[in-house]
Amino acid sequence: MVYIHPTHERADPVNNLKKRQLDLSRHLSVEAKARLPNPIKAIWKVAQVKPGTINMGNGDPHHTLYPVCEMNFIVPSVSESDPVQAWRAGTGDQQIIASYKDEPCALSLRTALAYGAGAGLKHVRDALAELNDRIHAPPKHMVSLSLGNADALTKCYRLLGDPGDSFLCEEFTFSAMTNAALPLGIKWVPIRMDKDGLIPSDMEKILANWDETLQGKRPHVLYTIPCSQNPTGSTLSAERRRQIYDLAHEYDIIILEDDPYFFLQYDLDIQTTTIESYGYTRAMADVLPRSFLSMDYDGRVMRLDSFSKILAPGMRLGWVTCNDFFAEKLDMLTDSSSQHPHGLGQAFISELLGGEGWGIDGFMKWVSSLCREYQRRRDLFMDVFRREVESSGLASAETPKSGMFVWIKINVERHPRYRKSEKLDKPGAPVTNTADLMNELFRKLLDCGLVMMPASTFAIVDQTGRIPTDGHITDRVNFFRATFVGTDEVIEDGLKIFARGLEEFFCY
Ligand SMILES: Cc1ncc(COP(=O)(O)O)c(C=O)c1O
Repeated sequence: MVYIHPTHERADPVNNLKKRQLDLSRHLSVEAKARLPNPIKAIWKVAQVKPGTINMGNGDPHHTLYPVCEMNFIVPSVSESDPVQAWRAGTGDQQIIASYKDEPCALSLRTALAYGAGAGLKHVRDALAELNDRIHAPPKHMVSLSLGNADALTKCYRLLGDPGDSFLCEEFTFSAMTNAALPLGIKWVPIRMDKDGLIPSDMEKILANWDETLQGKRPHVLYTIPCSQNPTGSTLSAERRRQIYDLAHEYDIIILEDDPYFFLQYDLDIQTTTIESYGYTRAMADVLPRSFLSMDYDGRVMRLDSFSKILAPGMRLGWVTCNDFFAEKLDMLTDSSSQHPHGLGQAFISELLGGEGWGIDGFMKWVSSLCREYQRRRDLFMDVFRREVESSGLASAETPKSGMFVWIKINVERHPRYRKSEKLDKPGAPVTNTADLMNELFRKLLDCGLVMMPASTFAIVDQTGRIPTDGHITDRVNFFRATFVGTDEVIEDGLKIFARGLEEFFCY
């Protein structure tokens, strides 16, 4: 584990005092409390402290017998003014990222390919701690590596969740990850959303009215996707983030900040003068949204970052940033399960972010160039959408500020077979046939050769896999999630099919 230097501690002494005294142990699951450290890793850590120690204790293959001595990757050079465009066009310079077993480099393959600690190797964690520090300036947090946010999230659930616990989340969310918590006996409590994401007043209403005798233990975890919320594409404003953090503080909630789209922000006002004077990292840090981590004086935020969306999903590398108490427990779980992430990925990242590679500033230059390209695709998507689809009045969408998703609203009430019952079966029960019509439309589009993700896929389900019929969610599943990351042809062709399918479905 690596400390991010507490250089940015808040001046507020009361808050700093609270931060030091906060006992977070009540949030740990029974499993996390019962877990013993991996005794072999514990000895390994002690042995690491003293250089020159002869290690005859471990079952590590000897490095002279590793069948590899060098690893080369050809990557784009970030000396180009717009490296992503130059890379796509094949016109830009390239650069070799090299790792060696016996030659000097940022992270020797001798170390990278050996067994390591669950938190990952210090070289990589140091680089990511520096990146964190320059972007979020968190008051005192640790960095541990993960195999991406899916791995990190499932470990966080096990760290914090007991059977019967209720966790809060957005009412439409990344169901792959919320479903992963259900077998652990965790129940999800959906918070209402609008076009700007999670509504803080609804979160407050849930927490303030929680009745432990009827509903069980009050939720102590919030799972949220603050940027390009998957599936709705919404990005929380600074004001909402502050309100949510304050509520978390008031009701003692741990925030799982799942933020794989954080770096993909659009319409950013990046200042050339700041780039010239301080580099890309500072220029980007000035305009990126303020994360929950950056406001975390209590140590109640577990932030999950991933290389999946900014390098490649097959990297299977990410990083968790959290307080030292949770970091230690998380590392214990990793030490006794998946163990540390793969050495080749760690070697590649060390070299890429190191002095002979892009460096952190070059990496941020790549990211800002990536933002420009995705912004171009988003704009194309929205232009074609407004022209081909929205003009019919059958669907509409907000322009997303970040990420990869557009949340398309279907004006289902215009369908000739749309029904709205005047008579309520019971309070909160569905009153329309929206879910059935959306199901039909999904199949119709599939027949036309187009897949869009129906909103019902992202609605919270109970332990049996069913969407609860109270709370009107089935009346509000009239959305599709579409992504704009594809090529120009995919965007043009896909949206034309969508427009035609919609018009046929609505019998125009
Ligand atoms: C919100 C969200 N969380 C987590 C993940 C999984 O990310 P990773 O590839 O880092 O495991 C995704 C991937 O699509 C996602 O959208």
